[in-house]
Parts: sequence; C-alpha cells; structure tokens
Amino acid sequence: MARLLGLLSAALFAVSTTAQSSTYVNPAVPTGTPVPGNYTGDLRPQVHFSPPQGFMNDPNGMFVDAEGTWHLYYQYNPTSVVAGNQHWGHATSKDLYHWVNQPIALFPPEERVYVFSGSAVLDVNNTSGFFPDQDNGVVAIFTLARYYENGAGPQTQNIAYSRDGGYSFEYYDANPVIDSTSSQFRDPKVIWYEDHWVAVIAYAQEFAVGLFTSPDLKTWTFASNFTRHGLLGAQYECPNLVKMPVRDADGAVIDEKYVMAVSIQPGAPLGGSITEYFLGDFNGTHFTPLDSVTRLTDFAKDNYAAQFFYGVPDGQNQVNLGWASNWQYAQKVPTGNLEGWRSAMTAPRVNYITEAPRIGLVMVDEIYDVSPILDSKLKSETCDGEGRIALDYSSVESGALYIEVNVTNINTTLLTDYSTLNISFASPASGEILQSGFYFGGDTPFFINRGGIKGFDNVFFTDKFSTADVYSSGSSSTLASWSMKAVIDRSIFEVFVDRGFHTGTVVFYPSQPLTALNLASRLPAGASVSVDIWSLKRSWAEFENEQGTVLGNVTSSGNSTSRRSMVYDSKFSV
Ligand SMILES: *[C@@H]1O[C@H](CO)[C@@H](O)[C@H](O)[C@H]1NC(C)=O
Ligand SMILES: *[C@@H]1O[C@H](CO)[C@@H](O)[C@H](O)[C@H]1NC(C)=O
Ligand SMILES: *[C@@H]1O[C@H](CO)[C@@H](O)[C@H](O)[C@H]1NC(C)=O
Ligand SMILES: *[C@@H]1O[C@H](CO)[C@@H](O)[C@H](O)[C@H]1NC(C)=O
Ligand SMILES: *[C@@H]1O[C@H](CO)[C@@H](O)[C@H](O)[C@H]1NC(C)=O
Ligand SMILES: *[C@@H]1O[C@H](CO)[C@@H](O)[C@H](O)[C@H]1NC(C)=O
Ligand SMILES: *[C@@H]1O[C@H](CO)[C@@H](O)[C@H](O)[C@H]1NC(C)=O
Ligand SMILES: *[C@@H]1O[C@H](CO)[C@@H](O)[C@H](O)[C@H]1NC(C)=O
Ligand SMILES: *[C@@H]1O[C@H](CO)[C@@H](O)[C@H](O)[C@H]1NC(C)=O
Ligand SMILES: *[C@@H]1O[C@H](CO)[C@@H](O)[C@H](O)[C@H]1NC(C)=O
Repeated sequence: MARLLGLLSAALFAVSTTAQSSTYVNPAVPTGTPVPGNYTGDLRPQVHFSPPQGFMNDPNGMFVDAEGTWHLYYQYNPTSVVAGNQHWGHATSKDLYHWVNQPIALFPPEERVYVFSGSAVLDVNNTSGFFPDQDNGVVAIFTLARYYENGAGPQTQNIAYSRDGGYSFEYYDANPVIDSTSSQFRDPKVIWYEDHWVAVIAYAQEFAVGLFTSPDLKTWTFASNFTRHGLLGAQYECPNLVKMPVRDADGAVIDEKYVMAVSIQPGAPLGGSITEYFLGDFNGTHFTPLDSVTRLTDFAKDNYAAQFFYGVPDGQNQVNLGWASNWQYAQKVPTGNLEGWRSAMTAPRVNYITEAPRIGLVMVDEIYDVSPILDSKLKSETCDGEGRIALDYSSVESGALYIEVNVTNINTTLLTDYSTLNISFASPASGEILQSGFYFGGDTPFFINRGGIKGFDNVFFTDKFSTADVYSSGSSSTLASWSMKAVIDRSIFEVFVDRGFHTGTVVFYPSQPLTALNLASRLPAGASVSVDIWSLKRSWAEFENEQGTVLGNVTSSGNSTSRRSMVYDSKFSV
C-alpha cells in the first residue's frame, strides 16, 4: 500500500520528454512500448481481452481498418488496480480473440486532465484535412475531464488524429471541438451518415443524449436531444447510435433500423451498471424510436458501456464488445490483489435485428465466430430427452470451454415443471459450483447462479440471474426447438440463449479453478438434445516470451525500461 501510494504521489505528472509532445506522462507509465502482462493467473481470462496490468473500464475508439485489423482502445489506469488517471490503452486483433497489446495510445494532455471515453473513425476522405496523402487516417474523439483540487471541472469533447493507422495520436491544436461548462457531458460516439459525421454524447445527469453533426470532425453543430427515454438510473453514459440490418426468420435482410444504446449507471434494475437500447429510425439529425419499449442488452449484470465497431460495412451485422463488470464491485474484485489487473471485456458479439417469438423486434447479441479459438472437441453427443454428460476438464490448459446445445423435436404439450436442461461447472477441490439452466415449461426461465463460488463476495455481488425465453412456439401440431451457446473462461461466463435473443454475462471468482462440467437434461421422450463441448486455446500463449510475459508490440521507439521497473514487479501491493 505505502509503496504504491508513494509512487503515485511522487509520480504526479512529469512532462514527457519522449514521443508525446504536449502531453503529461506519469513517469510510471511507459510511452512508445506496451505495458507487459502476465496472463497466466488462475483468474485471468484466456480468450477474452484484459489489460496487461492495472485497471480497465469502458471500451473506446473501436474500429476495424481496411486490412481487417480490429482496434480496441480502453479506459485505462496503468498505475493502479482501481479507476483513476485515465488513459486510452490499445490492443489490436485479426479475429477479436487474439489480442496484441500496443503502446498506450492517448495520455493526459496536461496535469489533472484525464482522457475519458470516446470513439474513433477512419477519415477515408480527409474530411478533417489532417491527412494530406493517405486514406487510412484515424480521428479519435473523446472527453477530456478536468479535475480541480476540490472537485470535478468541465468535461469537453476533443479530437486527436493518427497518421499511422491508430497506433499513435497527435492532439488537435484547436481543442476542444465541443466546449462545455458541465462536469457531466461525455462519451462521444461518432458515425458517418451519408454526407456528414454524427456524434452522440451523454448529458449524463440530465438524462439526454445530444446529437451533433459535423462536416469535418472539427466543427460541430447541435442537432437534437434524445431525452429521458427508458430507464434513467442515476446517469446516462456511453451512448451509441448504430445502423443494423433487420433479418427475417431465415436470415434474409428485409430492412434496416438504428439502435440507440444507452448505458445507465448507477441505478440499474439489478444494481449498478447496465445497458438499455431503443430501436428506431435516424434521418441525419433526429433519432425517432419505433415504440416505447426499453430493451436491455443483458439479463445479468456484468456487461456495461458496450461499443460498436466503426467501419463494419453497411448492411452487415454489427459487432460490439462491452466491459464485463459492474461499478458496484469492479474496483474490489480479487484479481487486483491476487494478479495485479482488474476487468475483462466481454467476448465479441454479432448484432442484427429480428423478430423474437411473441416479443417482437429485438437486437440479437450472439457470440462472434469462435472458430479461431476452438482447440479440441471434448464431447459431441446426441441423446433422446434424458441425458447426462460429466466431463473432467482439469487437463484443459486454458480452463476455458465453448459449449453448444441444440434441442429439437420438443413436444411442448408433454412438458412438465421438471423439463429442464442444466449445465454446471464445479471445483471438486473446493466444492464451488457455477450453475445455469433452462426450464422448458411454465414461465420458461433461463437462470445463472454464481452463489456457489466462494472466492469473492460483496453485498452488491448479486448471486442469481434469470430471464424468460419465449422460444419458438410449439403446439400440439408443431414441435419446438431451442438452443444455447456458452463460453466459460476462468472467471467469466457468457450464455447466448436461443440464437442470441437473451445474453447473460457474469464474472465469478473461484478460490480453486473450476474443472468439472455436468450437463443434465430431462425432456419428454422424442426430444433430441445435441451437445458439442470444445476446449479453447490459450489465446495469450502465442504472445508470451520464455518467462511467460506478454510484451505486446515492442517497437524500437519506446523508452520505458527504467520507468517500468519502478512500479511493476510481479504484483501490485494494494
Ligand atoms: C505470473 O503469474 C503466475 C501466477 O500468479 C506466477 O506464478 C508467475 O510467477 C508469474 N510470472 C512472472 C514472470 O512473474
Ligand atoms: C467518402 O466519399 C465518398 C464519395 O464521395 C462518399 O460516398 C462516402 O460517403 C464518403 N465517406 C466518408 C466516411 O467520408
Ligand atoms: C487533405 O486535406 C488537407 C487540408 O485541407 C489538404 O492540404 C490535402 O491536400 C488533402 N489531401 C487530400 C488527399 O485530399
Ligand atoms: C439538450 O439537452 C441538454 C441537456 O439537458 C440541454 O442543456 C440543452 O439545452 C438541450 N438542447 C435543446 C435544444 O433542447
Ligand atoms: C428529421 O426528423 C426531424 C424530427 O422528425 C424533423 O424535424 C427533420 O426535419 C427531419 N430531417 C430531415 C432531413 O428529414
Ligand atoms: C404431442 O404429444 C401429444 C400427446 O401425446 C400428441 O397428441 C401430439 O400429436 C404430439 N404432437 C406432435 C407434433 O407430435
Ligand atoms: C436443473 O436445476 C434445477 C434447479 O436446481 C433443478 O430443479 C432441476 O431438477 C435440474 N434438472 C436436471 C435435469 O437436473
Ligand atoms: C446446432 O445447430 C446449428 C444450426 O443448425 C448447427 O450449426 C450446429 O452445428 C448445431 N450444434 C450442435 C451441437 O448440434
Ligand atoms: C506494431 O506497431 C506498429 C506501429 O508502431 C504497427 O505498424 C505494426 O503493425 C504493429 N504490429 C503488430 C503486430 O501489431
Ligand atoms: C530513456 O530514458 C532514460 C531514463 O529516463 C534516459 O536516461 C535515456 O537517455 C532515454 N533513452 C533514449 C534513447 O531516449
């Protein structure tokens, strides 16, 4: 504790003498070279992104470039395992599962001003004028939050540009591009609409999303407000406006609509943080919801501030990932003390709009193509109604599994209260258990229970979650079907129920690794249960050196060796 605090105060923002001119760099923070990471800890997700060390929150600046490289930036405190001292960390991926850690992309521009959330776009037409002779210029737009001795100062919107494809940025010299006197005005997310840029920005405590337009990313004009819709919680944050295809039951594109996603925090229905969304139309200046329905992106409570990648071509399914945590306990989870990092992103998800039975239009949130991380198929079984699989996966090095279940030929008139399919994961060593399951009859709930996991507890660390999945209608004349997919990855569990109509994201912190899967189904005769279980690769393994350290994209320009060793040995001493 003393050591870390001492360093933090001693380190308060010396002027950088390296690459980032006009930025303030804490001497404990490396410039030009990535922060190294140890991704071997028992709680460290193996196929999810998590920061090399320190504290991560919202995903930022997400875009996919013309070569198909996905760029993820993130709210990053590289000097502690709690929030504060916000930078933009950076990582890239070709498949959204194997991430290359890159040098920190945005540093505070001056003392006591922090780089909060925002987005990035590819300025292919040089609308900004920052890119004399290239079509792969990147412009980041983000909130700078000023703090005074005695409290929060204004939050303004600012830009920085990158001529090297998003690896390093220069601050624009005429910031801010949207000024403000409010300390609650943040998280700009920019898209291109026909012939102009559009930003959605949260007036956090006035429950409004402001829409602004710009020809050049520098000059912005207020266009409209989307005010007081859905759940308010106590703040609106991280708005997203994104166009998506509407698909029919066969997957054909029949229309397109916009999604307005708003993250609320604190005050979510289950406590803390959650994301709601609205479906509607957008005409370049105004978003008009289709109906008065508030929809949620997740039925558990560890999926916040998701952002949609810029640059996914028009007409295609969109792609997002969120912060897999909740402010109610994000800064307390045991990975900080035990392994020196806190928070992972969700797995990447694919999104489009379609009709869910009875409910009507929803945004499907389905796991992105997992083929790059599949290791070996551990089980592939089909059984008739009553089935049981017990799998010891203690020899799976990643500790991570992918599970697919299809249930077909369900005669719903034969269902009882006991018609269920459950999947659990246990530690025989500690007796801990993570449970999930679906009730095919009655109110058709899908549940997750992390209450049997003992490595972390907290008054807000809710144990049990459920949703109601109205799956494909069965009747006496038609047989019904149902499906789910799940990923378990050491300390994060995600389920995609019924083709992604319902998604549940939970973090959990076992005192011993979970190594025993049990699946049990009890369904009427004639129903067919088909299950595939795969072990997953350790995505990080290919980036480790002989010592097991992930160094990331180390280039010759960096100068931080002296700095690094100041703060980081193997663990934080918080
Ligand atoms: C990485 O972390 C593991 C687990 O906490 C630890 O056993 C190992 O010594 C660490 N490796 C390095 C190079 O610090
Ligand atoms: C770039 O210019 C083309 C041709 O004018 C236009 O169709 C397109 O919408 C523009 N895109 C962006 C992002 O500026
Ligand atoms: C980009 O914009 C700048 C500033 O307007 C201009 O000098 C430059 O020629 C432009 N480059 C291209 C390729 O249009
Ligand atoms: C938009 O909302 C913000 C935040 O409530 C408010 O300050 C502003 O006046 C609104 N603009 C208009 C035109 O209503
Ligand atoms: C967009 O919609 C708003 C609200 O309905 C309307 O006032 C505005 O004129 C529309 N703009 C265009 C370009 O259609
Ligand atoms: C479902 O079961 C009922 C009762 O046995 C039977 O009458 C009905 O034909 C079955 N439906 C189908 C589609 O097989
Ligand atoms: C599934 O779990 C529920 C809740 O614990 C239990 O009531 C049910 O019997 C289980 N079903 C099977 C097939 O084991
Ligand atoms: C489940 O169904 C989907 C779609 O038909 C298929 O691609 C997948 O292989 C099936 N998985 C299992 C485990 O049966
Ligand atoms: C490493 O960073 C440089 C820019 O500094 C970039 O050009 C290169 O593509 C990156 N390599 C990888 C593997 O990410
Ligand atoms: C790297 O940083 C160290 C310590 O700040 C400094 O002494 C050294 O001159 C720097 N080297 C380069 C190549 O900039």
